Amino acid sequence: MDALLVLARPDMAAVDSLIRRHMDSPVPVIPALADHLIAGSAKRLRPLLTVAAARLAGARDDACLKLAAAVEFIHTATLLHDDVVDSSELRRGRVAAHLIWGAPSSVLVGDFLFARAFELMVGAGSMPALEILARASRVIAEGEVLQLTRAHDLDLSQEVYLDIIRAKTAELFAAAAEAGAVSAGASPERCRALRSYGQDLGLAFQLVDDALDYSGDSETLGKNPGDDFREGKATLPLLLVMARTGASEREFWIRTVDRRDQTDADFDRTRELMRQTGALKATLELAAGYAASAKAALADFGANPWRPALEDLADVAVARTA
Ligand code: IPE
Ligand code: MG
Ligand code: MG
Repeated sequence: MDALLVLARPDMAAVDSLIRRHMDSPVPVIPALADHLIAGSAKRLRPLLTVAAARLAGARDDACLKLAAAVEFIHTATLLHDDVVDSSELRRGRVAAHLIWGAPSSVLVGDFLFARAFELMVGAGSMPALEILARASRVIAEGEVLQLTRAHDLDLSQEVYLDIIRAKTAELFAAAAEAGAVSAGASPERCRALRSYGQDLGLAFQLVDDALDYSGDSETLGKNPGDDFREGKATLPLLLVMARTGASEREFWIRTVDRRDQTDADFDRTRELMRQTGALKATLELAAGYAASAKAALADFGANPWRPALEDLADVAVARTA
């Protein structure tokens, strides 16, 4: 990932200053709350995708920078909302904003950041990019609501699980890359290729995220593992372990996942069952498959330093521990 960070450094510094400037508001709680989240240990992966896709597609001007800042605002807005919805206590290594300022302020500042994203997109002056990111904002909300209504279902199919993560996570990765390509005036084929790269990278990223919720630790993750299990959220590792343990454990899953009647020992036991059944390993293998397909989408880009950098990012997304 180092090559990508070095290539993107000047652009990302400019994106950072756009982000800082647009966080501002005369209402004091807004910049305070936004800064708490934005100054946290963010990887800035999604805006990085916008910049990299635009440069790979030959962008010479800086239209992609405003789009990249908008992408980060859309992402942070969804995180503020998501932590309220998930009752999460830790984000980016910090106490979640809703525990400091309350859920109402957190939700409303999320709305503010969404609105700022749209101002930035209008400022970028690309109607097609605006359309792509507006659609992504709608699809993310649909994915979050779908998850809310279906996630406790012990019999959730892997197809619906994939629909959920495609919507809530991969769509923004796809749109971030596609908007960058579109703003660079890339051909429809190249825009499609970069969209496909982003989408598969996003799927890989969320699969790893869902595995880390069982195998990671809060120090490296910056958020608490076990949130998904506590919420009874049927992510792929849990769907696989439930399917692979059979009838003998059915009562255990009904109590812990369906009724959410749990102790800490139940989480440890689940992790042990995941190890025994290879549920985490299978999740990571699926992620590796999507990462490979992300890389394959870049095949037609020829010799360009951004291409190996983005290929490397796909590997990093699967190998990451945080
Ligand atoms: C977050 O999904 C997706 C969005 C913010 C749209 P999760 O709830 O699975 O992610 P974390 O674990 O809170 O980051
Ligand atoms: Mg969450
Ligand atoms: Mg969530």
